Amino acid sequence: MDKPLHFETRAIHEGIKDHDWEGATLPPIFQSAAHFHETADNLSQTFAGELPDHIYMRLTNPTNRFLEEKLASLESGRAAVVTASGMAAISNACMTLLRAGDEFVASSSLFMSTYALFTSIFKKYGITVHLANPLDMDDIAGKITDKTRFVYMETITNPGMEIPDLKKIAALAHEKGVPLMVDNTLASPWLCRPIELGADIVLHSTTKYFSGHGGALGGVVVDAGTFNWGTERFTDFAPFVAQKGNLAFLHRMFKEHHVNFGTTAAPFHSFLTVLGLATMGVRMERHMENAMQTARFLQEHPKVKWVNFIGFSDHPCHDMAKKQFGGKGFGTMLTFGLADQDACFRLVDNLSMILNLANLGDCKTLIIHPYSSQYVSFPRDLKERLADPCLLRFSVGIEHIEDICGDLASALEKV
Ligand SMILES: Cc1ncc(COP(=O)(O)O)c(C=O)c1O
Repeated sequence: MDKPLHFETRAIHEGIKDHDWEGATLPPIFQSAAHFHETADNLSQTFAGELPDHIYMRLTNPTNRFLEEKLASLESGRAAVVTASGMAAISNACMTLLRAGDEFVASSSLFMSTYALFTSIFKKYGITVHLANPLDMDDIAGKITDKTRFVYMETITNPGMEIPDLKKIAALAHEKGVPLMVDNTLASPWLCRPIELGADIVLHSTTKYFSGHGGALGGVVVDAGTFNWGTERFTDFAPFVAQKGNLAFLHRMFKEHHVNFGTTAAPFHSFLTVLGLATMGVRMERHMENAMQTARFLQEHPKVKWVNFIGFSDHPCHDMAKKQFGGKGFGTMLTFGLADQDACFRLVDNLSMILNLANLGDCKTLIIHPYSSQYVSFPRDLKERLADPCLLRFSVGIEHIEDICGDLASALEKV
């Protein structure tokens, strides 16, 4: 075909005909800890990186590689490495760039494990994060110093629901000589491809929309392959630049961190993720439609104090979402407020279908009270700053819309 295939089609077909799987249309689950080689010379060349064959599952695996190639393409990147979880992807990518004494700039609105990793765990290694308002270019610019190694953003912040201007932030980072790293989990490449806006490294928890059914844990790091690592700021990348040029970052991450920290994805989980990808396009369309209708239902309900949904035209990030997401939708996440924590608990306890659990981007509709769950062990002042006790986070699934709103309506009656 002359015309490039659409995202939805590539999510289903890409890669199938490139492999000799005896006509199978899904990758086999290569459940082998290691791969034998006919000759000592072949194994030696594979270890030296001169042959693309497999050695040991902690390094590479054919099922994982199939998913990596597919995700790199869907995110408009050049190459990818899949990992055991989204947090493994984030810690791998960051640690590849950071050394003791280094600094980086990150959005002040972050997923809570990322927040903990950046603000307390990295501190143990002598690394400083400067948190900046993701919507304030001056704040971000003012925090980039000579020691900054990268800028880190989330496409849609979790649970703040803010949309940073990735194009402008990428241009700013590049002007200062540093790469932009983006966690694209809440948007997915169906909605937004940060590399096309200038990002250099894109991360995901594939646990969410890619797998789609809440059955697989995973992460991915995608390298755009366009950043110039051969500058004064990144002299420590010189050996990797010599080997892989603009793919120096992913090559270093793989060689140093992925392999030695053992952050390998399980092939069965990669298989489930490939399976999930095939229906991602239709799931996302239904997610977007249901999210809009659920947000409207909640907004009109007298017991709901406020709804934070970027699809509303008066949301401060609505226009940015329209621009960055190309009019395809506004994500499936929203937050809303009730009178107090008790009311939130009563609502959750009276739902009959919607599930109270710590995940998002599932085909099932999910609810959580972040203040009393994900943030429960954070110090009180920090917890109050990061999550309002009256706030519920909602991930709208793909069930029939009348069942989602019906369940909410009868639970709200008991609040
Ligand atoms: C935005 C974001 N990034 C990263 C993660 C971590 O992913 P995982 O749970 O797969 O480690 C999550 C998990 O919810 C998330 O919401």
